[in-house]
Amino acid sequence: MVRSRPVAYLAMDRRTFVKKSFVTAAGAVLANRGFAAKSLLSQENGSGAVAPSEIDAARFPSGFLWGLASASYQVEGAWDADGKGESIWDRFSHTVGKIKGAATGDVSCDQYHRYKEDIAILKRLNQKSYRFSTSWARIQPTGTGPLNQKGIDHYSRLTDAVLEAGIRPFCTIYHWDLPQGLEDRGGWPNRDLAAYYADFAGILAKNLGDRITTWAPFNMPWTFTYYGYGIGVFPPGKANFDLFLKAAHTVNLAQGEAFRAIKATSSKATVGSAYGMAPAYPKTNSEADRAAAARYHAMNNVYFLNTAMYGEYPKAFVGEPPYKAMGFKPGDEKIMKVPLDWLGFHYYTRRIVSEARGGSRSGTTGHFGTETEGDGGSSSRDPLTQIHVEMPTEGPLTEAGLEIWPRGMYDLVTRISREYNHPVIEISENGCCYLDAPDETGHVPDTRRIAFHRQHLAELARAIADGAKVRAYHAWTLVDNFEWADGYSQRYGLTYVDFRDQKRTIKDSGLWYGRVAASNSLDA
Ligand code: FCB
Repeated sequence: MVRSRPVAYLAMDRRTFVKKSFVTAAGAVLANRGFAAKSLLSQENGSGAVAPSEIDAARFPSGFLWGLASASYQVEGAWDADGKGESIWDRFSHTVGKIKGAATGDVSCDQYHRYKEDIAILKRLNQKSYRFSTSWARIQPTGTGPLNQKGIDHYSRLTDAVLEAGIRPFCTIYHWDLPQGLEDRGGWPNRDLAAYYADFAGILAKNLGDRITTWAPFNMPWTFTYYGYGIGVFPPGKANFDLFLKAAHTVNLAQGEAFRAIKATSSKATVGSAYGMAPAYPKTNSEADRAAAARYHAMNNVYFLNTAMYGEYPKAFVGEPPYKAMGFKPGDEKIMKVPLDWLGFHYYTRRIVSEARGGSRSGTTGHFGTETEGDGGSSSRDPLTQIHVEMPTEGPLTEAGLEIWPRGMYDLVTRISREYNHPVIEISENGCCYLDAPDETGHVPDTRRIAFHRQHLAELARAIADGAKVRAYHAWTLVDNFEWADGYSQRYGLTYVDFRDQKRTIKDSGLWYGRVAASNSLDA
């Protein structure tokens, strides 16, 4: 997603890093030792690792949807082909100094032209669901107005090819690549975007709704609104907490309007979500830290879910929600309220949260990385939520610097299940960054990635056994791709891409995942 967390990564000496990585690869027995309980947290929550017996016992319902996920800007390339307009990620990546290695998504893995090859990989890996997103600027080059037929034709061909492969198409309508034309009109803080977005969603439903029935309006809405407008590490690069509040409110309205536009156009449509979530554990047992962790959950995990299900903001703030700063108008509660048909969310890693006072209205500065937010000493992220957020390093770290904590999958899924009355759940993303490349025999032996997915899937199976109605799991990601502000320095793919010649090599993790999908079992 965003940048890795260099501080945590560099803070470990290389020997510790290798040891920790080995622990993950070597499996759960060793991993259990690696996760030696050392803090109050681990005593309270148990180790993050998974026992081998649990991996053996893991069962998935028949018909479980094994899937892979991707996002338009990260894979498509063809940034100005066939009438596509400029998106904010095009503008951002073309601006010097914004992306690691001066990388851009101009070509990326060229999936716009090579989608058949990528769908053949999905088929070979026995996948049942492909989660992809649409580029708004391909379809409406400046965000409003008539549709660009060539853009819609592309997604129509892609959808047909996915269906021909016997795979369910799961369309995420918006995965961060806003048309620049709409940013020029104020971007998400401008509430007019809710209506423009609903028009776009309606166009998609009208043209693809005869074949696509699984829709998620937004990928990780908290992330793109906070990173884009609250702290400025994503486009459009603005850092103002009030802009974040406004942007997030427009997105909540847009989610509601789009839900209705899709349903009005396509009777077969089901509308869910693709939220980013991280289970938050209080740093200490104090009431203050527990309350701070609850605010984190409300702000980061369910800020867009609670509004959809109940038409109201969850208790994310120390005081009343800042309705004025959000631009909230009477009646907005009705616009936002749309009972989602199913809930989709991602899990990557967990957070430790404590109460903190102070904080600046433009968010803390410091290191904001993939799945982490600000680490600015003891000050809080902002004065309204008064939380201090850390990503712990008790478990091993991936090569993006994220802590591996499989137990978090269980905790998150069972919590959402409890809190939202046992909805149908889809894991829309889960994955890890490792840089393994083809060896001399042409194989990519990424055993750490296999260990990662096995452990997380075992925890998911445990949540299912305990009653959670999970019907799908999407590994992030089909092919190595443009990893946002990290450019090509991170690889999450189950397929390796040589960006010099676009050659795809299915990694050992991909082959393993293909067997899992065929057998519904983790010993594959
Ligand atoms: C998720 C994003 C996805 C990718 C992964 C690593 O948060 O949705 O696009 O960047 O992180």
